[in-house]
Order: sequence, then C-alpha cells, then structure tokens
Amino acid sequence: MDEATEEKRLRSPEPPPYEVPAYPRRPRHRRPFARSIVSIRTGLSFVVAASVLWLCYAVDRQYRTGRRHEDGEASSQLLQRYEDALAQCRELGRIPGRPQPGTRRSNPRWTPTNGQTATTILKNATLFDGEAFLSYAVDIVFSKGLVEAVHKTADNVAIVSDDGVVELDVQGRYVTPGLVDMHSHHFLTPWPGTEVGDDTNEMNPDTKAFTPMVHVLDALKPYDEAATLILSGGVTSSLIIPGSANLIAGEGVPVKNALYSGEHSEPVVADLLLERGVPASERRRYMKFAFGENPKGVWGYTRLGNGWHLREHLQKAKELKEKQDDYCAAILETRHCHDSHKASFIRQSGKFPFQLELESTVAILRGQVIVQNHNYEPEDLETMLRISHEFGYRVAGFHHATEAWQVPNLLREQGGNVTVAIFAEFSLYKQEAYSPSLYAGHLLDKHGVPVAYKSDHVIGLTSAKYLASQAAIGYAFKLPEEKALQSITSIPAKAIDLDFRIGYCRPGFDADIVVWDSHPLSSGATPLQVFIDGQAQLDESQVKQSMGTTFTAARAGDETPVIKPQMRYEVDDEQRESICSQAYGPGQSFVIDGIQKAFVDNYPELAASLAQVDDEPLKLIVEDGEISCLGSAAMCAGAESEFEAKGKKALRLSLQNGHVLPGLTAVTRALGLTEIATLDGTGDGQVSSQKIGDPESLVYAKYGLWLDGKEFARARLGGVTRAISAPLGDASGFVQGVSVEYVTSGKRSLTKGGIVRGDVALHLNLGDATKSSEGSVSNGIHHLRKMLENGKGKDNGTVYGRVAAGDLPLVVHCNNKYDMAQLLLVKKDFPEPNIVILGGKEAPYVAKELAAANISVILSENRPAPDAFREKDAVVGPPLTRSIASYLKEAGVTFALAIYEPSMPVDYRIHDLGPEAGWAAKYAHLSEEETVRLVTSNVESILGLEKSKDLVVFEGNPLAYGASVVVSFHADAETDT
Ligand SMILES: *[C@@H]1O[C@H](CO)[C@@H](O)[C@H](O)[C@H]1NC(C)=O
Ligand SMILES: *[C@@H]1O[C@H](CO)[C@@H](O)[C@H](O)[C@H]1NC(C)=O
Ligand SMILES: *[C@@H]1O[C@H](CO)[C@@H](O)[C@H](O)[C@H]1NC(C)=O
Repeated sequence: MDEATEEKRLRSPEPPPYEVPAYPRRPRHRRPFARSIVSIRTGLSFVVAASVLWLCYAVDRQYRTGRRHEDGEASSQLLQRYEDALAQCRELGRIPGRPQPGTRRSNPRWTPTNGQTATTILKNATLFDGEAFLSYAVDIVFSKGLVEAVHKTADNVAIVSDDGVVELDVQGRYVTPGLVDMHSHHFLTPWPGTEVGDDTNEMNPDTKAFTPMVHVLDALKPYDEAATLILSGGVTSSLIIPGSANLIAGEGVPVKNALYSGEHSEPVVADLLLERGVPASERRRYMKFAFGENPKGVWGYTRLGNGWHLREHLQKAKELKEKQDDYCAAILETRHCHDSHKASFIRQSGKFPFQLELESTVAILRGQVIVQNHNYEPEDLETMLRISHEFGYRVAGFHHATEAWQVPNLLREQGGNVTVAIFAEFSLYKQEAYSPSLYAGHLLDKHGVPVAYKSDHVIGLTSAKYLASQAAIGYAFKLPEEKALQSITSIPAKAIDLDFRIGYCRPGFDADIVVWDSHPLSSGATPLQVFIDGQAQLDESQVKQSMGTTFTAARAGDETPVIKPQMRYEVDDEQRESICSQAYGPGQSFVIDGIQKAFVDNYPELAASLAQVDDEPLKLIVEDGEISCLGSAAMCAGAESEFEAKGKKALRLSLQNGHVLPGLTAVTRALGLTEIATLDGTGDGQVSSQKIGDPESLVYAKYGLWLDGKEFARARLGGVTRAISAPLGDASGFVQGVSVEYVTSGKRSLTKGGIVRGDVALHLNLGDATKSSEGSVSNGIHHLRKMLENGKGKDNGTVYGRVAAGDLPLVVHCNNKYDMAQLLLVKKDFPEPNIVILGGKEAPYVAKELAAANISVILSENRPAPDAFREKDAVVGPPLTRSIASYLKEAGVTFALAIYEPSMPVDYRIHDLGPEAGWAAKYAHLSEEETVRLVTSNVESILGLEKSKDLVVFEGNPLAYGASVVVSFHADAETDT
C-alpha cells in the first residue's frame, strides 16, 4: 500500500459541502403546568378577565400603599427584566416537538448546496424496515436526505424527478436502516488515542461526582477518524455521552457519523449533529447518570454515599424547580397588569430563580432531558428506579446492565419502558459484570423489556464498527431475528426519542440506509454501501478491493443473500432429561448421526478414510471413550452391529448439521490466571521485576494456574479444549513470562494431567508496554539483542538460553510495523530463535518479509482498531481495506488465530474462536480446512506443541455464531512440568 492510499483510506470521499436550513416547527406536547395556563386563557376568558382584574387591583393596592413615592416610575430596565422572566416562564415546561412518524417532508440536515442531489432508487432490496422484514422485494426511493417511498419491486413503479433519478439495482441484497448506537464516546476520545486526547470524564475536585452542567458538545473532535470506521460498520447515528466516573456526568448529543459533511467540509462540531438545522431550543437533551463501582471508586464513596449524594443533589434541584414554579405562577398572573405593577413584581420577587449549575438537573425533573443510566447490578438498577420515582423523572435507558437479565420483571413493572442497552458478550471484567448471561437479550425480550445493543466505543474491543455483530450474537443466543435487528435500529432510536427520524427505513425517515453483503445477523456481515442523509459514504473502489464486489455488482455465486444465520440448538427439557439420565461420564459410548462435516487432521487415518466419502451424512461411534468408527452409514455398519452384539449401552444422538472438529486451542489473554480482570484478589498477581536475560526474575504461568472459572465455561461452550496462557506479568512491562498449555475441561487437576506443557514460550511485550520497564522501546530491543548475543551458540538450559537456541519460541506481542521491522532485523542477526508475533495490526506492511524470515504470526487482531498512536496504521479491514488475514495468506506467512484483548486481562469472548476464524476466512478466502487449522494445528505447530487428540462434536457450523457443542472428547493429556 502506498502512503497516499493509506492516507485516503480512513476518510470517505469528501461529499459536497452542506448548509443549515431552518427546522419546520412541530406540534409540541406541553407539560401539565403549561397546559393549565393555555386552557384558562382560551376556554374561560370571562372568568380569567375577572380574576386578572381582581389580581391587578390587589397588587395595585399593595403597590399604592407600600411604594407610593415611586409612583409611575417603572424603569424600562425593570420592565425588560419582567419580560425576560416572563419569557423564561413561558418556556418552562417546553418539550421538543415530535411529529407523527411518517409525516416528515424534509430532513433538516439537507441543504441544496451540499445535500443529496438526484433522487435515488435502490431497486430490488430485501428490506428489514426497522420493525420487520418485508415479505416482498422493494424499491426504496429517497430524495434530499429523506426516504420518500418504498414500493413493491414487482409493481414496477416509475419514478420521475426534476433533479434526475439514479437507479441502483441491489439485486435482492439485504438492506436495513442505518444502525443506531445509543452509547458511544468517539469524538470525545478520538483515534488514535494519545495521552492528552481523552475528554470523556470531567474529574474536578470542586464539582466531584456531579457535573450535569458540562456538555459533550464542548469537547467533540469533529475529525475523529473512528467515525469513518464506525459508519463502515453500518452505524450512521450515535449518541455521544460522557463517561461514568460521576453520578451525574453531563449532557450528551446525538451525531451522524459523516465527517466533514458541512458546507465547507471543515472539521466543525455543529456539522456532526444529528439535529443540525434544528433550532437549538428544539433539540433534544440527554443526561448520563452512573451508579455502582465507577463513581464509588473515583470519589471514594460507597453505594450508601452514592445514593445519599444523588438525593442531596436532586433535592437541591427540586427546591429550585419549586421556586421557579411559584415564581412563574405569580408572574403569569400579572402579565395583563399595568407596567407599573410589572415593575413592582420584579422589585418584590426579583429575577427568575436560576442557577447555571443546576439548570440541567432541574430540566431533568421537568422531563425535558432524556436520562441514560450506567448501571450493572440488579440492586443498582433497583436503586436508580427508586430514586427516579422519588424525584419524578423517567429513566430512558439502563446501559451496560450486564446483570439486568436477572430482574426482567422488576424492569417491566417498575421501569416505565426503560430500554436495557447491553453488550452481547463483554463481561467478567469487574465484579459488577461477573454474573452475565449470553442469553440476556433473549431473556429480557421474552419478558417484554426493550433490548438494545450498544458499543461503549473507545477502547479497541468496544469498537462501534462491530455493533451489528453484537445483534448477531444476541440472535445466536435466541433473541428472535427481528428483535435482534430492532435492537440496533428502532429500539435504540426510540430510547433516545428520535424514532420519528432514524431507526426505520420508511417514508418520512432520514435516508440512512445500509446495503449488506449477507444477512446482517450472519457472522462477518459487512456493509457494501452506507447512505447517510441520502449520500453514499463508502468509496466503491475500496469496497471492491476489500470485498471483491460492490452493492450494485452482479451477484457472485457464493453470495447467499436469503439464508438465515443459525441460532443455537437447544435441547428441550424432556430431551435433556432423557440424555442426562443416560450419560455416565468418562468411558461413555456414543452413536451420533447426522454429521455433515468432519475435519479430523489430528486423526490422519480417519481423515484419509473420510476423503473417500462422498457428500453424505456421517456417523460417529465411540465405544468406551474410544472412536471405533467415523464414516458413512455403510462404513460404520460393521462397527455398529459389532457394538450392538456386545449388548453395550450407548447414548444415541441425531444431529441436523453435525460438525466434528479437533478441540480448538486458544492462545488466551489471562485464562486461568485471573478470574475478574480488574480485581487483584481474583488473580495470580502481577510482578514488575522481570529483567530480560535474568532467569532468576522470570515468572512462570504454570506456577499460578487455576483450572476453573466462568471463562473456562465459555471456552467449553466454544469447543476450546486446550489453552495457552502467559503470566499476568507486569500489566505493562517488557517481559511477560513463560506460558503454559493446559486443558479446559475443568475435570483435571494440576497434579493429574491438567497441565499439558509447562513451558510453552517466552512472552515479550514490544510497544508502549515496553516503556514502563525499559524506559523506551529502543532499549527493549537493545536488551533483547544483548540477551540473544549472550546466548549465541550455547544453550545453557535456562529459558533464555533455550530461546536463544531456538528450542523455546519467543512470542512477541507486537502490532506496530516498525517494531515488527526491528524483529526482522533481530532475526537477521540471530537466525536461531523462533520468533512468533502475537497481535499483528500492522503486519500487512511487512508480511512478505515476515514470510521470508520465517516469522509466524498468531493473529489476535483479526478486526483491529487504530486506537493507539503506535497502532494508527492498523489495517482495519473490509469494507475500507483488505483484511490482515488476506495479506498474510497472500504473502505466505504461517499464521494462526487468537482472541486476545490487550487492554485488559479478560477472555470473555473465548467461545468465539471458531466464528472469529470463520470471519478471517471469509475475506482471506480460506477453505474450511484451512480455517479450522487457524485455531487448531497451526497454533500447535507455531508453538511447537504436541497435536491435541481432542475431538468436539457440534450441532451447527462452529465457524459461525450459533453452533453448540454436543460432546467433546478429551484425549489423555501428558504432563511435562
Ligand atoms: C431481485 O433479485 C433476486 C435475487 O438476485 C432475483 O432473483 C430477482 O429476479 C430480482 N428481481 C428483479 C425484478 O430484478
Ligand atoms: C410504555 O409503553 C406503552 C406502549 O407503548 C405505553 O402505552 C405506556 O404509556 C408507556 N409507559 C411509560 C411509563 O412510558
Ligand atoms: C543463559 O543464556 C541466556 C541467553 O543468552 C542469558 O541471558 C543468561 O544470562 C544465561 N544464564 C546463565 C546462568 O548462564
């Protein structure tokens, strides 16, 4: 890739400039207070006139008797103050307007100078419209940034327009509304991140945990390149909110993810706003609340203090609100009086009661601000509802809410339609998130609680680009198809009160539209084109280069547009009972039918005999824990009758789409070494004294390993039977220590076969982490060279000696291309060591050299984020660039695949190893066999491990979301500790 292409890569082609039009006024809902004023004025004019007269008389008398000496001298200044106060009172209960969905005739972001020019028709779309899939193909007509019509394709409706008509035939491809993310921090903390870029939390000793007076608008960076990545995942609208350090954190704002979309294509914050073109007084307001661990940890409170301080603050606002209401009731009664009475009112009552620091909180109490809460645990959800009821405001969304699935009835009965905005999988990283359920979406939905998925974008693992994949995972775990798609479109749109503009692809909605390459809930689904306000955002040539097709290109044979992705197979209770009553553990016999595919590299004899089987379902017979046959029904007939002749009892299973694979081998972040990433007490602990070359200070994972925990359960869920973990080491430090290989079954102890290999590899962190122990990256490289120099030609038996001699792999966690180039130079001078790169965000830049130098890659960055400066040139993948895996394959690099979260020691996603390999394969065009090897034999061969003899039987395709493990066979593990 040349520099210019790289430079262009993150920016979409610059659309023509925009301009801001006026927003059409809308009928608006008034609050009860305002309504009573209106009805008195219009309905009961006689009585009103009479009472006004009486009131003026009363005021007048008071005025004449008390202030006679100022008679007639109402100053213009006082009158001006009176008018100002009256205006403030009239605005008091005002709520932004909300047209009936479908009645809008224009998009306020559109302008003639830089908006969508020609009317566009997407022909022959398979449309999910925000609520449901339409049962027929449609033509979607949009003009000036607004969807105008959705016609049946079969009706062949002719469209004419003065502006011209562009017809784009999408040939049955899936189309959805632009996705809506109701929780993101991009623009606040831009990518690539630096030490000074973060403006997410206002941590001020004066205001402490209450910063409702701050507004993210004052901190947005309208050049954040992450926005382009995010839109490339189909996310067109995002609610940007402050972080969760404070109990009330500040106001948020909704944006559209189109950079430089203003009139002059400059980085201007106002141009980002979803409500661009809407008068400021008509815009919606959003407030972020947080409760639980974060404000507790930051300000030294307990939950007791959290609750008290929140009430104390709300009480202050409530008192101010009451003062305002009393004041306004009084002033409104004098509005027909003589000027002198008005002046007198101001003299006596003063100005409208106002405190800038409480303005937002009072507005919350008036229902003018949409409240979004950060909470995890059930008791925190309950507390926040209790407090909201005490003070009379509504919570629109509970965010994160990892444990909300435990209290769906509480939420339904007391939540007032609160939307629960969750992660599909991210959890287990803190105590609050330690009791998650992968079925949370399904469980909440089943109880009538609206569910949204959201990103929390800013660290790489929460990249908003992959919002759709969260819905896909929710679907795989049984959230119904249309609900899963609603969870990233109309449900979050409703939770931020913009579901008359976004979240749907229907007439009268903004023309934010995504054309997908496959079913949007399938693993690896990627947009082929994204429209924001009717303007295409993706560069067709980038899409073509990265995905091999475009949204209007003729459909290739391998595109399977109307195949629904798989959902996990679940046995019903009766089946479960009957199976479990038969199962009797190790040595069990099985007869399993309906196996559609078997990849059994680890059993060469079986693989060879399977090569002769045509396309027919296979049978697997396991006798007393040993495989006695895997083959066609005919091939296994003998074994089966022999087996039956012995009168043996077997568990019989009939599968629909059975798959047999070797047990997967995961290179983990910290499995077995810490249970809750952020809690030291749940882990092995960290050391910071390891010095490269000094065997004395080296840390070994094998001495701190535990063999059970919640992440082990997730590993088994994904068919991962073996794992490799390096020590926690120093969270940031050059030497991480020596890794261990072990079994994940949870059925073997440390003393009896739990550990497969005690010393797997020496792990180093090359990059920013190097600096904390070595001072600089350069010093790290210098010390690495010195260590290898010392050990040159003589294996002195220590770990470092073995590494220098190439007897033990040197796994270097590394993402930057220059750091990788340093490793290439090291390899040139020291050919013996077996250098393996773990990470690989920028590996494509040096892929050919890596292949030539025989440096393999364990790709843990299949979908990387350019989140740190040192990783700013990460190859971000389709639809913006080709994928890393495709470059590695093309260059002939030996590579495997891992899931490894650099930012925290957590393996919450370990069960996705198969689907992640499938995702990598999709754009690298790997065969299924090659794909399976990425997470089995390639890991073993790169690290020089013994081939695992474990086998796992899945219902469903384990290279996509939604497969479930039926049985796994763990071969005996040897120990070599
Ligand atoms: C719409 O697309 C489908 C799938 O490619 C195709 O079979 C059908 O003929 C198309 N219909 C029209 C009217 O072009
Ligand atoms: C919840 O939603 C239902 C259905 O839309 C509506 O009738 C009800 O008024 C809502 N309740 C609240 C408290 O908003
Ligand atoms: C063994 O060799 C390594 C690798 O060069 C070196 O760092 C270490 O100091 C040596 N240790 C001993 C005890 O000789």
